Amino acid sequence: MTKRLVLALPGNETFASQLAESLGLATCAVAWRRFPDSETYLRIDANVAGADVLVVCTFVEPDLQILPLLFAARTLRELGALKVTLIAPYLAYMRQDMRFHPGEAITSIHFAKLISDAFDELIAVDPHLHRHKSMDEIYAIPAVVLHAAPFLARWLRENVEALLIVGPDEESEQWVSEVAAGAGAPFVTLRKTRLGDRDVRIAFPDMTQWQGRVPVLVDDIVSSGQTMREAARQLVADGWPQPVCVAVHALFAGDAYETLRRDVSRIVSTNTISHLSNQISIVALISDALSKPRT
Ligand code: R5P
Repeated sequence: MTKRLVLALPGNETFASQLAESLGLATCAVAWRRFPDSETYLRIDANVAGADVLVVCTFVEPDLQILPLLFAARTLRELGALKVTLIAPYLAYMRQDMRFHPGEAITSIHFAKLISDAFDELIAVDPHLHRHKSMDEIYAIPAVVLHAAPFLARWLRENVEALLIVGPDEESEQWVSEVAAGAGAPFVTLRKTRLGDRDVRIAFPDMTQWQGRVPVLVDDIVSSGQTMREAARQLVADGWPQPVCVAVHALFAGDAYETLRRDVSRIVSTNTISHLSNQISIVALISDALSKPRT
């Protein structure tokens, strides 16, 4: 049977060791450091010859992480690894998925090419598929998409009564419909217009039939927090209680978390990105997928 090992990119050690424990695998010893000029030093201190290596990297700072990641993948192959799989609980560069203005880079495609050239397979949790309808439109390797919705739904069933799931924009319907079904709750989706990185406008449908319920904003990513914040402020202005916010990927750029906290009753996220709002572990989602028979 092929030996399997788990290797963590810096910052992913906790998630990687939880995943390894859940799968009964060893982690791969690796030394990383930066040279004084900020170049990467990497040494793999394990026998990976003939192994299937699961490289864990959640892309909280993709521009800083991509080179070390590609170096690791290439080095693993040079040292004889048979298969190198990227486990990306949060997969970055999925939102610039078209040329919105002339001359823009469609970075989702360029990023996918870099990953596809270096890895044999990709496993990601709720990648932001919007204008790309499936991963194989941009990824040339098998790309397994896992959904955190059942985990979000279970947390909501156990923690919030009489809820109304609110998706802040049209594309969120793919997540909120599944979360709502799992939580046994109704859902609505709002209409968002993005005017800038931190400037969004949100239009609400008529929600009077759901009055009396607790609004729960559900989104895949919170980055600047403006989407959640604008939705929360309008809910409160319309007479609703402060909402609970549930996100899969807690990016929370800068002071987004502290700012959003003022307008909502609670913020909860999965641990695809390590953050103090993490309440929902999705390690089992990935380990279950990896436990199934694979090619
Ligand atoms: C949008 O495309 C995503 O689903 C999220 O709504 C978005 O990334 C949230 O971004 P922010 O927190 O910066 O408003």
